[in-house]
Amino acid sequence: MEKESIINQDSEEESIINTNYIKEKERDFKKLMLMYNSALKEIETKIQIISDEFQMLYSYNPIEHIKTRIKSPESIVKKLKKKGYPITYNSLVNNLNDIAGIRIICSFIPDIYKMVEMFDKSTDINIIEKKDYIKNPKESGYSSYHLIVSVPVSFASGIMDVKAEIQIRTIAMDFWASLEHKIKYKYSEELPKSVQKELKECSKMANNLDRKMSKLGGNLIEEFEQDMAYNKKNKEPKALKAGHVPFNFKKIIENL
Ligand code: GTP
Ligand code: MG
Repeated sequence: MEKESIINQDSEEESIINTNYIKEKERDFKKLMLMYNSALKEIETKIQIISDEFQMLYSYNPIEHIKTRIKSPESIVKKLKKKGYPITYNSLVNNLNDIAGIRIICSFIPDIYKMVEMFDKSTDINIIEKKDYIKNPKESGYSSYHLIVSVPVSFASGIMDVKAEIQIRTIAMDFWASLEHKIKYKYSEELPKSVQKELKECSKMANNLDRKMSKLGGNLIEEFEQDMAYNKKNKEPKALKAGHVPFNFKKIIENL
């Protein structure tokens, strides 16, 4: 009886130690996720400001929609293992750039480059790396523009630079990538060569569609900027093309 009570006590102590250990680890993980979530919020706000600026300057918004996500703990461990990195919090912070991910879906191809230009000019988002998979699509056929960035996030304990991955793509590029991802998921092993080939063909079709639509839509922003430059030079406003409704503030004030 006495022996049994000692054993119970021991295992209870052990379980308390374990529980504390797990709780401590869980707290660290929650802190990390808070850090990445805050970075996402900072970047989302920045994108919203860029979007408002576009709307104000060009009466045109190149952003169809934005998606954000935090990588799940399972995916984090899977990726660390796959890349041969240690499974620790430090390794996660140092080796993975896409724990916080933002996807910006634009209307036309030129809009993507305009977005990149806006990020380039931004002083509160630091660009660490640019990957242009539109000019150089991946072997799979994948195309998108990727930015690895860092944003300073203020916490009570100080300011931290947090990394994130921004993927900028058109609706057609997003359509292809989302479905290819689902198709890949269906096969637990590598995709059969025939499926790979067909997916690549689909990506070429999506790319053709993008180029055709971009041609039809034209480079709305560039055209508008050219109009503005023309107006400045000639003083007389040039007849505006459909869809270009500039915000002529001065004229509105004059007419008040
Ligand atoms: P990862 O180990 O996948 O992060 O590769 P990386 O660090 O070299 O980055 P890369 O720029 O190649 O890709 C990062 C992200 O782009 C992935 O996590 C996917 O979201 C997306 N991506 C890259 N290649 C493909 C592809 O072939 N198909 C799809 N659907 N998405 C892709
Ligand atoms: Mg990635």
